[in-house]
Amino acid sequence: NVESKVDSVLSLMTLEEKVGQLVQYNGSWDLTGPASEMNNKEKEDNIKNGRVGSMLNVLSAEATAEAQKLVMENSRLKIPMMFGYDVIHGYKTMFPVPLGETASWDLEAMEESARIAALESVAEGVNWTFSPMIDVSRDARWGRIMEGSGEDPYLTSRVAVAKVKGYQGNDLADEKTIAATAKHFVGYGFAEAGRDYNTVHIGENELHNTLLPPFEAAAKAGVATVMNAFNDIDGTPATGHKVLQRDILKGKWDWDGFVVSDWGSIPEMIEHGFAKDKKQAAQIALNAGSDMDMEGGAYESSLEELVEEGKVSMKHIDDAVRRVLRVKFKMGLFDDPYRYSNADLQKEVPYEEHRQAARDIARKSIVLLKNEKELLPLKPSVKNIAVIGPLADDKDSPIGNWRAQGEANSAISVLEGIKNAAGKDVKINYAKGADHGIGERSFLMPLKINTTDRSGFKKAIKTAEKADLVVMALGEDAFQAGEGRSQVNIGLAGLQQELLEEIYKVNQNIVLVLINGRPLEITWASENIPAIAVAWQLGSESGNAIADVLFGKYNPSAKLPVSFPRAVGQEPLYYNQKNTGRPSNDEHVTYSAYTDEKKDALYPFGFGLSYTDFEYGDLSLSSEEMEAGGRIQASVELTNTGDVEGKEIVQLYIRDLVASTTRPVKELKGFEAVTLAPGESKRIDFTIDEEILKFYNVNKKWEAEAGDFEVFVGGNSRDLQKVGFSLKESKVIFEDHFE
Ligand code: IFM
Repeated sequence: NVESKVDSVLSLMTLEEKVGQLVQYNGSWDLTGPASEMNNKEKEDNIKNGRVGSMLNVLSAEATAEAQKLVMENSRLKIPMMFGYDVIHGYKTMFPVPLGETASWDLEAMEESARIAALESVAEGVNWTFSPMIDVSRDARWGRIMEGSGEDPYLTSRVAVAKVKGYQGNDLADEKTIAATAKHFVGYGFAEAGRDYNTVHIGENELHNTLLPPFEAAAKAGVATVMNAFNDIDGTPATGHKVLQRDILKGKWDWDGFVVSDWGSIPEMIEHGFAKDKKQAAQIALNAGSDMDMEGGAYESSLEELVEEGKVSMKHIDDAVRRVLRVKFKMGLFDDPYRYSNADLQKEVPYEEHRQAARDIARKSIVLLKNEKELLPLKPSVKNIAVIGPLADDKDSPIGNWRAQGEANSAISVLEGIKNAAGKDVKINYAKGADHGIGERSFLMPLKINTTDRSGFKKAIKTAEKADLVVMALGEDAFQAGEGRSQVNIGLAGLQQELLEEIYKVNQNIVLVLINGRPLEITWASENIPAIAVAWQLGSESGNAIADVLFGKYNPSAKLPVSFPRAVGQEPLYYNQKNTGRPSNDEHVTYSAYTDEKKDALYPFGFGLSYTDFEYGDLSLSSEEMEAGGRIQASVELTNTGDVEGKEIVQLYIRDLVASTTRPVKELKGFEAVTLAPGESKRIDFTIDEEILKFYNVNKKWEAEAGDFEVFVGGNSRDLQKVGFSLKESKVIFEDHFE
């Protein structure tokens, strides 16, 4: 039905109108119409004449209605526009940054935060988000690591599906849902040396086994759009990559949505040295399967000419336009172009409930890395708490980067959260110690960090001296992680490390709360500070969520979605590495290791403590042999041996010991969250079938190969039990390979 409607509209369109559907404009817009830069007669005329298919950054129901009116009241065919925006971790109510939220491993909660973000967005006229970002990223130097789900393709794939479901619901035409975008296709998170936009060197094997699976999962979940990437991959810019966009995404995966370019990424192919001018860039991009030009000006200026010259075929133009129209039909825009510009919806948005949901997912995202001297949860005997650090009363940093309409300085700070939670008889004394981010702080401008002003140290030291316990809030400013925020150092920046060491000299009962968008190098803290919690940038309810964990109202259950390194020189660092031919470093130097540091993570992927203890019984398999097409079960009994109820994320990893291409030392293949009362036990069963043994192999196919496998189960990627089985008689035989 949708297809015949699309065809009938397409058959009415002129080439100029078709090209128009492939053009996206940026626009500041207010109630009276186009504002500032958009106050440009030519652009407005283009919108009126149906030469613009969508806009980004037009906010409010009234403003989007105004813009839509230009099309509906002036253009010949009245094809409604879509309105896109970067709704990355909430619209107004801020949820944890995606890396932090992923630490909850709670897919339902992640779906719910996307549903809430969708509702708040449509109430403001936004019907399309450029989220989720599902770039697997393993380099803490890369500032956008905060925006994804970390280093693992399986976990990222599961989150991708949850997010798409949350944004899009079951029916894209529902006025409370928005279209989602899986981005950035593909490789953006593998920027060399963690430097944003940098070249990506990736082989076919890694591309298919690590980077593409989350996108395939999102495509299968029906994501409406995909955004391509700024980077080049092995010599071809992603925006001009035909194999990726046309052959794999639209061909092999049979995905029927449309590809939007990243901002200006089509003309950026000129800088890449891949196109000589805008016109050639447009030709390459369209032919490669980039359907919509985000603010690049290349399609609007050249596509018609390129078709007339026979350099771009009508078939490719029609395919791109068909894809855009299909999404618009599915969104119900042809039935009601103003469906998402309904100002009345504002009254229905339960912002207060949304904050409760934000608090809940925020506390589920806090990872407890260390808890010695039984400092946590805080004991009733603690009557005098010093709250110290530049991030302690910072109401802005927890909002994080990519904050959509999250208001500046609107988060509950750590200090406020502690004050809200502490009993009346507990004294709370605060000292900032030192500033961190200083001066103007915004999305585009570089962040200045204080490295000289120690004038607050004295007061902080005095405050710490007389306290029973010190909560130190350190980490990153909101604009320290995010786009263009790559760093060569990932320690506690500015004067923070020095402050921490000064405080430690006078009071060693320190609970270090990290507010961060990326993994930090915290080796000194890990050796000296008794309690450490990673609180990421948790959003609007940050301080309350942190206090819930500090005071034991919530027993921490989160697990790292990304490795914390011992030293920045280990980056990129990830658990699912290859073994290499020289894995050991027992005695000699001629092994794959470092001479000045261990090679493993300080805190590995999947790691996180609880206030209770969990004991794993013996791991067993239902059989040590699996027939082709069969399945076996891995089982383990988990017991809560501590004193309080707790939640454990039980993780399943697999290793394929010998294969036609080398395989990682272990790969996450399943997980289950289990809540147990003190003394309670539960048997956990994981099903292992051929499906989860498959990988992109020497045949260039997704196949399972017969042979021996190891199965690991445990509470993180390092501390695991191991058993083995073999897959018999797989249909896949590699005689050539072994000969
Ligand atoms: O969605 C973003 C993208 O992730 C980075 N460049 C700009 C786009 C639109 O704001």
